[in-house]
Amino acid sequence: MSYTRRQFLESASAAGFITPLSIKNRDAEPSDKEQAKSPEVVKRVQSINDPLGVRGDFPVVEEHLYLNSPYITPSPQQVIAAGNAFWQAKSHNPILLGDMLTETTRVRQQFAQLIGAIETEVSILDATSAGENLVAGSLDLRSGDNVVVDDLHYETTYALYRNLAETRGIELRIVRSDNGAATPEEFEELVDDATRLVSVAWVSHQNGYAHDLRALADLAHGHGAYLYTDAIQGIGMLPLDVRKTGVDFLTAGTYKWLLGGYGVAPFFVRSELLDTIEPDRSGSLNIAQELPDFHFELHDDARKYLYATPAFGAIYQLGAALDYLDNVGIANIERHTVALARRLYDGLMAQGHRLLTPPGNGSAIVLFEHNHDPETVRQSLGKAAVQATLREEGVKIRVGAALFNNEDEIDKFLEITDGWR
Ligand SMILES: Cc1ncc(COP(=O)(O)O)c(C=O)c1O
Repeated sequence: MSYTRRQFLESASAAGFITPLSIKNRDAEPSDKEQAKSPEVVKRVQSINDPLGVRGDFPVVEEHLYLNSPYITPSPQQVIAAGNAFWQAKSHNPILLGDMLTETTRVRQQFAQLIGAIETEVSILDATSAGENLVAGSLDLRSGDNVVVDDLHYETTYALYRNLAETRGIELRIVRSDNGAATPEEFEELVDDATRLVSVAWVSHQNGYAHDLRALADLAHGHGAYLYTDAIQGIGMLPLDVRKTGVDFLTAGTYKWLLGGYGVAPFFVRSELLDTIEPDRSGSLNIAQELPDFHFELHDDARKYLYATPAFGAIYQLGAALDYLDNVGIANIERHTVALARRLYDGLMAQGHRLLTPPGNGSAIVLFEHNHDPETVRQSLGKAAVQATLREEGVKIRVGAALFNNEDEIDKFLEITDGWR
């Protein structure tokens, strides 16, 4: 039996997994988007303590003072419900491949819409790192070429280009951040006509620094190079329009601010560059047409990178997560979370802690250094059920404000840090 999207959602609802509100939203085709946002459908109960009306969807808020979203962002119940429904179907009446591929297409469309791209520019890989490996592997980088990154990037990037330096003789140039920022002006000093790629983590996992993608794209393009961005710490927290920013390639895993699960990472390639980036592996799913005598024609758009059976369960969850984010509104999430981060920043500053995130930074992540005994700090955080990332043996603390956090929580955290002076 073919398991349609409607049947899937109805069985999920019958099992008590999805609220009628979510069904209405998830059932909306793109043409129904406006209707899905109409006031009678979107009934989030907002309050001062919950300006986005989302806290009820995140049980984590009852259990912890959770400020660790840059590490792993908890998923709302709607996303868990979509996963449960998927696996229940797998147990009772597995969803047909064709239906799972249809959902995959819908999710690619949704993601494309989120970043201002078109569906044919978006594929789904299995991890954030897969995108940069694919791009770097396809660019035919050689001795004499250089790649410019900064020291706020993720480990993958350094490992990847150090390897290409050894195996292909490329040069890796690393912009050293200054007071937590790596500005386009600093990149300008290292980018030249031998630069093939500029690569940044849009929002740095280290200290939350949000790069100016437009300026970096202009710089790269002015030298005939491309801009790659790892967007896992930005998408879902901040709005992004790939056309306005000029990003050429982008990948984002989904277990952080996108509120999804593991094993899927949407990958964007600007349409003019689809011919430049070739798939690095073969499978049955990226075949567009079978030709005589075991010859094949591959898809010529971003579907060519989705070569074999993906993590469908996580794709269904990503669909639910993208619906959820669309419902709350990314601009609202940005406004709320960045304001919380500023409140935290100002409070920490007033207490005399050393901020390692630049002032006025436009993300929801803050890194600071305290001048207190790390073991005592660890214990006081544990006692208050605070979850945050302790870095460098607990000397530095990374905090992230997500859509479900509120001012009270930031103030509670500040009460704790006040004791570390
Ligand atoms: C900036 C950044 N990039 C990438 C990753 C994870 O990469 P992957 O999905 O390839 O494991 C993380 C995880 O913390 C990250 O913060």
